[in-house]
Amino acid sequence: MKNIETQLDASWPEAERSVPADKPVPGFAVFGHPIAHSLSPRIHARFGALTGRALRYAAIDAPATAFAAQLGAFAANGGRGANVTLPLKQAALALCAQTSDFARRVGAVNTLTLLPDGRWRGDNTDGPGIVRDLTGRHALDLRGRRGLLLGAGGAARATAFALLEAGVAELTIVNRSPERADALVDAIGQPTRVHARYWNDLGNLGNFELIVNATSAGLAAERLALPFSLVARRALCYDLSYGAAAFAFLAWARAANAGQAIDGLGMLIEQAAESFAIWHGVRPETDTVYADLRSELRLQATD
Ligand code: ATR
Repeated sequence: MKNIETQLDASWPEAERSVPADKPVPGFAVFGHPIAHSLSPRIHARFGALTGRALRYAAIDAPATAFAAQLGAFAANGGRGANVTLPLKQAALALCAQTSDFARRVGAVNTLTLLPDGRWRGDNTDGPGIVRDLTGRHALDLRGRRGLLLGAGGAARATAFALLEAGVAELTIVNRSPERADALVDAIGQPTRVHARYWNDLGNLGNFELIVNATSAGLAAERLALPFSLVARRALCYDLSYGAAAFAFLAWARAANAGQAIDGLGMLIEQAAESFAIWHGVRPETDTVYADLRSELRLQATD
């Protein structure tokens, strides 16, 4: 296995270090596969600088078969906390000695914290991340809204539980493979409030005030065929991805006259802030990081 320290340093760009390289500082990282384009190292370095905390944060490429061993090596080399992204969130849950109720319900962990006894605690900050972005940054009152969730994978599960906790009135879950939507609805266990419907029936479901795209179709450059009839007046349409992966869904939402069409950049930053708060005991201010990354995305879009 490749030496973890080499990986830490190689994937830790000089410009992003918030402390001098020769000082021993707590180690954090995001594990995933692929991981090269992750924004998390930059976001956490900025949070470190904003809160005056010395830290280093790397991106570690971890195929599923190597993840457990790599995480062990990371801890042995001073790693104290890790974010976990695709395809490792369920594997991360299985590695934890303790988990939050929310992570257990969702069935996925995106935040690992090393306990004093050397074992890991798991949290899931994806759900709180989307709620913070919607209710804080976009000032949306979720209470009483009729919601439609497209997708039933890991990201969708965190979103579903979080939206319901935040007070969405009703949630309809539609997934390409209906059995996954059924499984999620069963896991939630609120049959009068949460329903699964078939993708083929999207044209007959009426309209929704909140529509969240939690599918990975955009990442594969696949287009979802969605009827405009889903979009209520002034509806908020939200894609959990950002950048090119979100373009098609957001273009559909604008064409359907949605009130707002928003990508998942804010969720990414808010889930990072929640993880940072777990590790460092302080929640960083997120608006400047959001504004900077937003303008970079805009520049890329017009390149
Ligand atoms: P994640 O953790 O990001 O949610 P995932 O667990 O692989 O990733 O889930 C991907 C989701 O996108 C699933 O809901 C998947 O539908 P299936 O369960 O039927 O596979 C959905 N998805 C991916 N590509 C899609 C497409 N082209 N059209 C519709 N749904 C798609």
